[in-house]
Amino acid sequence: MRAALALILWLAAPAWGAGSCMAIIGTGEVGGALGMRFAGLGHAIVYGSRTPQVDRVRELVARTGGDARALIPQDAAQACGILVLAIPWEAAESTVAGLGDLDGKIVIDVTNPIRVRDGRVQDPGLPASGVELLQSRAPRARFVKAFNTVNYRIMANPKAAGGPVSVPLSSDDAAAKAEVAKLVSALGLEPADVGPLDTARYTERMAMLYVDMLVRGGPAYEFYFRPRR
Ligand SMILES: NC(=O)c1ccc[n+]([C@@H]2O[C@H](COP(=O)([O-])OP(=O)(O)OC[C@H]3O[C@@H](n4cnc5c(N)ncnc54)[C@H](OP(=O)(O)O)[C@@H]3O)[C@@H](O)[C@H]2O)c1
Repeated sequence: MRAALALILWLAAPAWGAGSCMAIIGTGEVGGALGMRFAGLGHAIVYGSRTPQVDRVRELVARTGGDARALIPQDAAQACGILVLAIPWEAAESTVAGLGDLDGKIVIDVTNPIRVRDGRVQDPGLPASGVELLQSRAPRARFVKAFNTVNYRIMANPKAAGGPVSVPLSSDDAAAKAEVAKLVSALGLEPADVGPLDTARYTERMAMLYVDMLVRGGPAYEFYFRPRR
């Protein structure tokens, strides 16, 4: 009974400020990298996993440390005020639709609608950016496109880039964008406000270029926006 009450209080804990609760939906390369980094900064991490009890996810939770936990995606999303979508694009629309009420929550969308075929990135042929399509599934969530042009290894260790790395931020919500900019800076990356949510149409294509270079085994670059003086 006492444990159940503690769980309810913990699930209802406030979401904002330093040490805030962050739901990381997806436990793969990006989810693990960001979950561990944000935990290291003192945030309470709740992973959203389709299989929170499997060994792989339990091990990630243990590596993450702090107050980290894993729940099914909907419970993780409802536990926190900030969400990170770190799932394949193919699963993103149905996942967002199944997360429950996201009104007022900041949703950081890292997904990229990327399909690789015959060693090249294919145009996804979407009518808008992926994040705009996700926003239409949860109109009152505060979507911010971020981190999608950064490799998960750089998220885990920005110093490995050998220089500054930009994180373009697209959002229609200025306060949410400012909040995410602070999170980006705290990780040791450089936030770059590139405009409203529909500018993600271009940053998602930056990610396509990045992945296309990667799969071709061509020269590799990290994106850095030098501010114009
Ligand atoms: N890898 C990068 O460097 C990078 C960089 C920038 C952006 N991105 C984008 O970030 C997103 C996540 O990339 P990732 O590399 O972390 O992917 P990943 O390693 O394949 O992990 C994706 C995670 O999403 C969850 N998931 C939910 N529904 C799924 C489904 N239908 N099929 C497979 N997994 C599902 C899984 O966690 P559970 O099994 O626990 O549910 C899985 O571990 C993608 O949209 C990708 O384009 C990746």
